[in-house]
Amino acid sequence: DSIRVFAPATVANVVCGFDVLGFAVEQPGDEVLMTLRPDPGVSIRRISGDQGRLPLDADRNTVSASVQMLLRHLGREDVGVDIELHKQMPIGSGLGSSAASTVAGLWAINELLGRPLTALELLPFAMQGEELACGAGHADNVAPALLGGFVLIRSYQPLDVVRLPVPALHCAIVYPEVEVPTRDARRLIRRTVPLQDAVTQWGNVAGLVSGLFLGDTALIGRSMQDVLVEPVRALLIPDFYQLRELALQAGAVGFGISGSGPSVFAFAPDEAAAARIVEQLRRHLAGLGVGSRGYVSAI
Ligand code: HSE
Repeated sequence: DSIRVFAPATVANVVCGFDVLGFAVEQPGDEVLMTLRPDPGVSIRRISGDQGRLPLDADRNTVSASVQMLLRHLGREDVGVDIELHKQMPIGSGLGSSAASTVAGLWAINELLGRPLTALELLPFAMQGEELACGAGHADNVAPALLGGFVLIRSYQPLDVVRLPVPALHCAIVYPEVEVPTRDARRLIRRTVPLQDAVTQWGNVAGLVSGLFLGDTALIGRSMQDVLVEPVRALLIPDFYQLRELALQAGAVGFGISGSGPSVFAFAPDEAAAARIVEQLRRHLAGLGVGSRGYVSAI
């Protein structure tokens, strides 16, 4: 018995919603091939696309570690599986790379066992995988990777996840090939915020969510502002503000950092506009001597 599962990249934060908003894209994503075997235990047999950087040790790899946690929770330590992980997106890129792998693994084992848990019930295990990957069990990548679409994490304790309407927009993503580990990018953020900044931020979060429900693209666009996290993380991204200018000139509805960066993303009214934005940003980065990858996707 074996199963192949794809889980998508995700854009977390969506500019103003640090740790509470995220959405899934169609591609890129990661793939897990999982095979049941007669003897108990969880093993990683092969990883491709990671340039040898991810651990094969089953206790340290987030895919196998979260599968082990799930088996323990279900009292099914008698089960044995071999895992192949095929990474189809860069690591440390801000595209929810670890989340996609973890979610694909959890989905695979849940299917092989005859679906004992719902997608939502898999979420806490995926969050533990994130904790292992970056030191923080945030859900804004794993929840949309697991559930699809646009997701709000209204509360972490207790966990309260709300599915939001998906806007009729395309997403342009550009990954400048500099690495920003989430663990480091989280350390930079201030622990306390001035009240006035908090007011601006929650106005924008509410505006973005309202824009999604109203299908109001202009409201979505003008709510995509972040006064708390972006000013600090922008420093890690080559020419961030120039990239924003270029994206907006090329027709972007809104622009910002994807997750903890260095990827940036923009909403665009259609596929052609998204492709134009990707091209402009990549050309600018090439001019700086920075290699990049680009993705265009429906949301
Ligand atoms: N909300 C997380 C962060 C997402 O910004 O650190 C990481 O991809």
